[in-house]
Amino acid sequence: MSTVPGPLVRRLLQRDAPRVVIEIDGVAAAAFAGESLLVAMLGLGARLRSHELDGAPRAGFCLMGACQDCWVWQADGTRLRACTTRVVAGMRVRTAAPDPGDDA
Ligand code: FES
Repeated sequence: MSTVPGPLVRRLLQRDAPRVVIEIDGVAAAAFAGESLLVAMLGLGARLRSHELDGAPRAGFCLMGACQDCWVWQADGTRLRACTTRVVAGMRVRTAAPDPGDDA
């Protein structure tokens, strides 16, 4: 049995939206312009963030902006709900809250 985490979601429909580059934890990644950040991130990896108490991987729950399980952070520390945020070219997100003194 493989222990390497893979994507948690797979797009079933071929999208004709343009591909854009975003940055996740400092790593460039390709996403479709306009898709939700949640789909883009889970299509690339196995978590949006880690749970604050036990570090367990989180991937969202309600997928409609109600549960707050999909928080991710922008470089300036602003939180975003990944499920209700659309991907735009050049966005930079983190899977953990930045340290207050971090200037990335
Ligand atoms: S998954 Fe519930 S608010 Fe985003």
